[in-house]
Amino acid sequence: MKAIIVKEDPNRTLLWQEVPDPTFASNEALVNIHTTAINRADLLQRAGNYPPPPGAPPYMGLEMCGTIAAVGTAVTGFKPGDRVLGLLAGGGYAEQVAVPATHLLPLPDDRDFVWGGAIAEVFLTAFVNLFLEAELQAGETALIHGGASGVGTAAIQLCREAGCKVIATAGTEAKIARCRELGADLAINYKERDFAEAIHADSDGVDVVLDIAGADYLERNMEVLKPRGRLVVIAVLTGPQTQIDLLQMQIKRLRLIGSVLRSRSLEEKNAIVAAFKERFWPLLIAGRIEPVIEEVLPVERAADAQQILAENRNIGKVLLQVRP
Ligand SMILES: NC(=O)c1ccc[n+]([C@@H]2O[C@H](COP(=O)([O-])OP(=O)(O)OC[C@H]3O[C@@H](n4cnc5c(N)ncnc54)[C@H](OP(=O)(O)O)[C@@H]3O)[C@@H](O)[C@H]2O)c1
Repeated sequence: MKAIIVKEDPNRTLLWQEVPDPTFASNEALVNIHTTAINRADLLQRAGNYPPPPGAPPYMGLEMCGTIAAVGTAVTGFKPGDRVLGLLAGGGYAEQVAVPATHLLPLPDDRDFVWGGAIAEVFLTAFVNLFLEAELQAGETALIHGGASGVGTAAIQLCREAGCKVIATAGTEAKIARCRELGADLAINYKERDFAEAIHADSDGVDVVLDIAGADYLERNMEVLKPRGRLVVIAVLTGPQTQIDLLQMQIKRLRLIGSVLRSRSLEEKNAIVAAFKERFWPLLIAGRIEPVIEEVLPVERAADAQQILAENRNIGKVLLQVRP
């Protein structure tokens, strides 16, 4: 098969070239990939800073949508020919991938491979962190940083459907407008206004923060949290090191949670996919929640697609088309 490999040159050039065909285990399906999507983590992996977890394919790509080519002997519920989408620990930028069948969802007949390629990584990330890690409840308020990112656009919609108030931050007026359309009750351009000030002007604070910024936001994130608030850090785009006011954390009874999806065990991911399928999958099938898609490029243009994320130009997802 072909896959995108990273050349060991200063530009980390991406090449679409022949690689060994994948093998699959008894609990896995072998999928012919039609679409995959770019995630911020791919940029880190390309740079050599985010190696795939043990046992994962060496290629980039944390999600895909395609058609099952073959299934292992222990797989139930899926068969060759089924159209599926799924979460990967790697290997999406390729013609085929082996994936545990428990990490797949069936692609509805009336949806295409582009729709299906934009869902798994960002919706499962938003879901696990907001609803399982932070235990966000109906009636509570969530602050979503990076509201127009892939994860952010998913998170805003999940919060809206869960009956929560949503505050989002983003860095351009176009992104702010999109956050509002998706359901944010308050959207703050963090480049023009201090987000903590804006939140205090509008409300008495938030119950949950989904953070991607890390160091520069920690103090303000803790400050805008109400008593018993939860902060989930899923990325540290402004850096990993800062100071923390432990007294504030103690007095307000805050919970600080760090989280990654990719390196979780098979069993943990099984539970996440199953819980998401039960709670939010019907809303995606019904069209109440939609993936937000910026652009679809051919897989050979993976470098251009990654550049869109690197320059923060996307609202929602950028996809790669591997097959029509
Ligand atoms: N822990 C996990 O399991 C997990 C899983 C998936 C994703 N993530 C992380 O979640 C984040 C979103 O992922 P994604 O793939 O959806 O990203 P994305 O679509 O590339 O969006 C990221 C957005 O973050 C904003 N941003 C960039 N640098 C920033 C900074 N220094 N301060 C504040 N905002 C900044 C930009 O929007 P503005 O123009 O609005 O600034 C950018 O468009 C990424 O950092 C990713 O690594 C974590």
